Amino acid sequence: MDAEHMGADLENVLFTEEEIQGRLAELAEQVWEDYKDKDVLLVGVLKGAVMVMADFMRALPGTAEMDWMAVSSYGSGTKSSGVVRILKDLDTDISGRHVLIVEDIIDSGLTLSWIRTNLESRGPASVEICTLLRKPEAAKVDIDVRYVGFEIPNAFVVGYGLDYAEKYRNLRVIGTLAEHVYS
Ligand code: PRP
Repeated sequence: MDAEHMGADLENVLFTEEEIQGRLAELAEQVWEDYKDKDVLLVGVLKGAVMVMADFMRALPGTAEMDWMAVSSYGSGTKSSGVVRILKDLDTDISGRHVLIVEDIIDSGLTLSWIRTNLESRGPASVEICTLLRKPEAAKVDIDVRYVGFEIPNAFVVGYGLDYAEKYRNLRVIGTLAEHVYS
């Protein structure tokens, strides 16, 4: 799905496909350098991180394992509460492993803060976070994020894995949603 297919539902394009791929390539290079002597395990959080994981791991100049978690926030609608339930756990035993969580967006930080604490309790060698997008103005908890693609304003963004009511995940670009869609 391209920006023009959204018509008036799309307010603004924030990042084009080229900008997204370019930044992911930079992050992949940095990650590969930082983990050169380590066997990194990439952990994606369903569903939003699907596109980021697919492109980020292909941008790595060597092989890496991936695994997935699915979680549900007890928050209502578009807000997360920080109370998280695991819907699908990792297949991998991460004890002694270097884990890199791959995310599409950190908003309040509550979900990632919970996931990181949960993974750290399993005895990994390290747990770091890589996110394509971060909304600094929306942060409710202080969370150390080692790799950030882009910092964005506190607007409703969709595309490239990010949804509104499960729609627009397949939009190629990342953009802001027009207010009439959600109000
Ligand atoms: C999104 C995103 C993060 C979380 C960030 O997932 O992928 O996991 O919200 O929000 P927070 O920083 O305020 O906790 P969402 O719950 O929308 O599920 P999805 O990935 O299936 O779209």
